[in-house]
Formats: sequence, C-alpha cells, structure tokens
Amino acid sequence: MSDFTSVGWSIWIVTIALGGVAFCLFVLFSQMKGQAKKGEKISDTGHIWDGITEYDTPLPRWWISMFLILTVVALGYWVLYPGLGTFKGLLDTNQAKEVRANQEKIEAMVQPVFQKYAEMPIEDIAKDDEARAIGQRLFLNNCAQCHGSDAQGSPSFPNLTDSSWLWGGEPEKILQTITNGRRGIMTAHKTLMTPAQASDIAQYVRSLNELAHDQTRVVPGKKMFDQFCVACHGAEAKGNPLLGAPDLTDGAWLYGSSEETIVYGILNGRDNQMPAQKDLLSPEQIRVLAGWVWGLSNVDK
Ligand code: HEC
Ligand code: HEC
Repeated sequence: MSDFTSVGWSIWIVTIALGGVAFCLFVLFSQMKGQAKKGEKISDTGHIWDGITEYDTPLPRWWISMFLILTVVALGYWVLYPGLGTFKGLLDTNQAKEVRANQEKIEAMVQPVFQKYAEMPIEDIAKDDEARAIGQRLFLNNCAQCHGSDAQGSPSFPNLTDSSWLWGGEPEKILQTITNGRRGIMTAHKTLMTPAQASDIAQYVRSLNELAHDQTRVVPGKKMFDQFCVACHGAEAKGNPLLGAPDLTDGAWLYGSSEETIVYGILNGRDNQMPAQKDLLSPEQIRVLAGWVWGLSNVDK
C-alpha cells in the first residue's frame, strides 16, 4: 500500500471495504421487516407458480447470528492486519516481511552446506557426490534455459559436455566465465569481401574438418583466411581462448558446419553473450556449478 501516490486511493479503498460491509448489513436488516415473528403463522407472499407456493419464511436465527459474527471477525481483521488503505494494522505484519524472514531462515540453513565448498578445489567438487547433486539442481534452475537440461547446448549456446571450449576448459577459466560472463564478438566481413570469396573461405574451413568441400576453392580460401581470420582464430585455425574465438578444426560447432551457416557468420559477424552470474548466485554456488560443469567432460560417472 506504500506505493500509492495520494491519500485519495487509500480513502477510496477504505470506503469500498467498510461500505461493502455496511451495505450487506443494510440488506440483511431491511429484508427482516414485515416478516412473521416467532410463533406467528407464516404468511405466504401470494405467489403460486406451477403448484408451488412462495412463503415469507424468516431467515433462520442461526444464519443471522453467523452473519453478524463474521462481520465482527471481518472488522477485527481490519483492525489487526493491513487491508484498510494505508493503515498497517495493529499487528504490523505483512507478507513481504514474512517472505524475507523465511528467505533469511533458509539462507542460514543452506550456508553451512555451501561453506565447505568455498575452499575445496574445483576438481574435488567435481568428484563429490553431494556437490554434484547440488550442482545439477543449480544448473537446471539457472542455466538449462540456455544450455539445455543435458548441458549439450543448441545453436549459439555452447555444448558444455565436450572438450571443445571457447574460453578455456580449465577449472579457473570456467569459474571466471560463470562469475563475470563472456561476450564473443566476431566482426562482420561483408564490406571487405564478396559472398563468393566468403564461400571460398567456408570451403577451406570445411576441409579442415574433413567435411565435403570443393578442392579447387580451398587454396584461394586459405589465402583469404590468412588475411582476414588468423588474427582471432590463429594461423592453424585452432582458436584463441582469450577472445573466445573457437577452434575451427575440432569438429565441434557453435552455429553449425554447413557452408551457408559459415558464410553467413563471415559476412554478418557474430555477437554472443553469456550473462554474468555474480549478482545472481553466491560465490559458493558458482564454485559448485564450475565443479559440476568441469566434471561433465573430465570425470567419469
Ligand atoms: C541467457 C542464456 C545463458 C544462460 C542463462 C547461461 N548461459 Fe552460459 N553461455 C551462454 C552463451 C550464449 C555462451 C557463449 C558465449 C560466447 O559465445 O562467447 C555461454 C557460455 C558459457 C560457458 C563457456 C563455454 C566455453 O566453451 O567456453 C560456460 C562454462 C557457461 N556458459 C556456463 C553456464 C552456467 C554454469 C550457467 C548457469 C549459471 C550459464 N552458463 C547460464 C548463454 C547462457
Ligand atoms: C575479431 C575476431 C574474429 C575475426 C577477425 C574472425 N572471427 Fe570467427 N569468430 C570469432 C569469435 C569470437 C567467434 C565466436 C562467436 C560466438 O561466440 O558466438 C567466432 C566464430 C566463428 C565461427 C563459428 C564457429 C562455430 O563453432 O560455429 C566460424 C565458422 C568463424 N568464426 C570463422 C571465421 C572466419 C572464416 C573468419 C575470417 C573471415 C573469422 N571467423 C574472423 C572471432 C573472430
């Protein structure tokens, strides 16, 4: 209620709330007039339809009492709990506070579990059964929407289960990737070459992976590669983990190996981002995740 910009809204809500109760009481009492008293013969209203006579039977006393008791309960609730506009209620509770208190309780319970991983080497975390179970749950909650629930990725989202890495597969590198995020940028080449030249380069890249290619175009393709691509992908096209430039010879593909996909990437470039997790997860949670991810390609299950 604190986000109301004027007291007008608060007054409006109080009016509706109390007015609603007052209206119900008005209806209740106004309809009791003219009804037969206890012991008196109950009159009928004169309506008869299809052999059914409508009587003017008074409301049962227990029903009226219950209604009045519930009205008192409602008014009592508004005195104790928030409900009437900006009035916080005498007990001064609210659900946001309760949720926060519960979260703090849960965090305090979980803290000792994670504490033991704060110092543990990531290689050991990867072999610890309990840590692996926690790591998998964290992965499913925080990472699977992009990397897939089996961590095998999909176009533009890297497969984390193989030994091909954009940014390096050492435990510390994985930890850095998750903590600070990564952004892989490949510049566009469409102003620097024709699509036919890009296609020559694609023939060369495909030849490095023993995929079907046109041998006569590999030679001009390699020349273009040496001119435009080695700065990031290296002279042998083995990539550069400092730039997140992938190894183009290992048979693992972030986007795909078809000529069309490779040419598209060369002409238009790529800009791909792994979001930093340091503001979303605790350092211990990130460590457990790094262990789990490293274990996918380094620990036999
Ligand atoms: C919004 C989507 C998204 C989410 C969520 C996400 N990632 Fe990523 N992740 C990416 C993308 C995209 C890349 C590739 C970045 C690039 O191209 O350089 C990546 C890269 C990585 C890499 C580097 C892979 C390599 O080959 O070097 C690791 C490790 C990784 N993610 C782990 C995780 C973990 C663990 C989580 C959960 C905490 C996570 N990611 C959550 C999109 C995401
Ligand atoms: C400025 C550095 C840079 C240059 C120059 C560059 N690349 Fe890249 N390249 C990258 C990066 C970084 C990625 C990864 C993009 C991502 O993370 O999405 C990439 C991705 C690729 C991919 C996708 C690989 C896959 O697994 O799907 C191919 C193919 C590729 N580059 C080929 C080339 C070719 C051919 C050239 C020369 C015409 C070239 N690159 C020039 C940095 C570069």
